Parts: sequence; C-alpha cells; structure tokens
Amino acid sequence: MQYITFNNDVKIPQVGLGTYLLAPDDAQAAVTYALDGGYELIDTANAYVNERAVGRGMSDSGRAREEIFLETKLWPCFYESDTAVDETLERLGTDYIDLMILHQPAGDYLAGYAKLEAAYKAGKLRSIGISNFNKAEIENLLAHCEITPALIQVECHPYFPQTELKELLDKHNIALQSWYPLGGRDNKSILEEPIVSELAEKNGKTAAQVIMRWHVQQGNIVIPGSKTPSHIADNIDIFDFELSDEDMEAMAALDQGKPFYERTAEKIAFYATWHPNVEGQK
Ligand SMILES: NC(=O)c1ccc[n+]([C@@H]2O[C@H](COP(=O)([O-])OP(=O)(O)OC[C@H]3O[C@@H](n4cnc5c(N)ncnc54)[C@H](OP(=O)(O)O)[C@@H]3O)[C@@H](O)[C@H]2O)c1
Repeated sequence: MQYITFNNDVKIPQVGLGTYLLAPDDAQAAVTYALDGGYELIDTANAYVNERAVGRGMSDSGRAREEIFLETKLWPCFYESDTAVDETLERLGTDYIDLMILHQPAGDYLAGYAKLEAAYKAGKLRSIGISNFNKAEIENLLAHCEITPALIQVECHPYFPQTELKELLDKHNIALQSWYPLGGRDNKSILEEPIVSELAEKNGKTAAQVIMRWHVQQGNIVIPGSKTPSHIADNIDIFDFELSDEDMEAMAALDQGKPFYERTAEKIAFYATWHPNVEGQK
C-alpha cells in the first residue's frame, strides 16, 4: 500500500473502498471482504444510509480499529446540529473517525465546518475535509476556517482529471480524493476505452487496474465502489506495475474537460433540505 500524508501529518492509504449505493447487507459484506483482503481505507456517508452496516463489516473483519482508516461525510441537514457527529460515531460503532467530510457545499456550510473543527479539537475526528466544493467555495471556506481541510473529495477520472482545481489544492496542501474513479456505477465508458484495453493487455492487468494505476500515479487517493469480491481484490492489486510516461500521455488524451455529474442550483438547494433516513437504517 502507498500512503499520502495530509497537511496535519495524518497518513491516509491511497486506495480504499467506496460504498455509495451499496445496500446495508452488501456494504457489510464488501467492507469485511475488503479489510480481510488488505484494504485499510473505507468511505461511507450519512447519506448512504449504510453506516451501521459499515460498522458491522469492520467488526466482522480480522482488522483492529487502529488498522482501519474510516471516513464518512456529514450531510447538510446536520450542519447546524450539535449531536450529528456523536450520532454518526454511534452508528459506525466507533469512538473516533479518521476523516469526516462536509458532503456538499449546501446550506450553512461554514457552520457545518465549524462543527467539524470542534469535533477535531475534541479528538473525535483525526482529520476534516470537504466534498464537491468549487473554487469560489473553497476560497470562501479558507477565508473563514481555522483548520485548513486535509482533503477534498470530487469527481475525478481520466475524462475529467481536475487539472485546474489541483493548482488551488497544491497551493494549500489539500489532498484530492476521486469519486466516480472508474466512471460511476453501471457506466463502463472509461473501462471500455480502447487505450485503456491496450494498456491493460500490455501490462497483463485489467482495464480497472489501469485506471486505478492512473489515479495513483496522478497523486489521487482513490475509493472505487464495489460489491463484487473479484473487483474488490483487483482494485487494490495495482502496486506491481507502472504506467510509463508515454502511457500516462496516452491516457491524458482522454480528458474531455467535463464531469458526468451536472451541478445545478436546484440540486444544491434540494441537498440543503433533504433528510436521509439515518435513524431508520438497518
Ligand atoms: N462525495 C460525493 O459526492 C461522492 C459521489 C459519488 C461517489 N462517492 C464515493 O466514491 C466512491 C466511488 O464512486 P462510485 O462507487 O460511485 O463509482 P466508481 O467507483 O467509479 O464505479 C463503481 C462501479 O464500478 C464497478 N467496478 C468496481 N470495480 C470494478 C472492476 N475492477 N472492474 C469492473 N467494474 C468495477 C462497480 O461494480 P461492482 O459493484 O460489481 O464491482 C460499480 O458498478 C463511492 O462508492 C463513494 O464512496 C462520493
């Protein structure tokens, strides 16, 4: 495994497991399988309504809590809550979280970030971060916060490598974590790109492993979502080969300058009011 060191000296594994759209039973099984197979990083969120299952998956595994880097995300309806961090800890069955992220730049995100800062100072969170913030929102947050975010989680893959955002992140030593690293659930377009197949064949690896390797060589932290054991095993088996400079240049030609996810003011307004059924989860 390779690690990235945050701006507060906490180390995060560069490859982990994502759990978006995984139903509780699938999330639990995937987390246990991943941890027992060498994974150390698990990503979930209040909004995925599977935090209890992720907690069960962790305790079913053979890994001790301190061997796991656990990250989750606070949903906007909880940004002004005094109890949401503690309730998240209770659902996950742990007394600390390695990284907690503001999921969306919606609602009073400055108030939400202040809650994360307070929980960080109280020792409940080892690091704090943000997700889906644009440049203006990052700059606004940096102008108001006390603790610079350690990481931002954003859509990032060969079609949309986030080249422009990375200039700002480098300036503030904020790490980038890729969501939709393989193109998102049920979207095979990047996996089926001819150059990806060509590099897979050349290296004796799968298309997903070539894309994973591209992320790692770009310096991204990467958390592919999967409930399929063979995929979970493949996605971490990427440290025995390297893409050459020429291969990376060929991959760069896939940049379309456009994400899959279209952000709108309506979606952001909806996120501020939507309440995920965290209380009712299995
Ligand atoms: N912050 C945010 O707003 C945000 C948004 C989206 C996602 N995320 C996080 O980022 C993670 C990754 O994103 P994602 O799960 O949406 O998309 P993704 O990782 O790009 O793609 C997941 C899809 O790829 C398939 N897959 C996984 N490994 C594969 C392999 N080796 N070969 C072929 N197919 C493979 C999965 O199917 P199988 O299950 O069959 O393997 C699933 O259909 C999420 O799980 C979540 O933790 C965050």
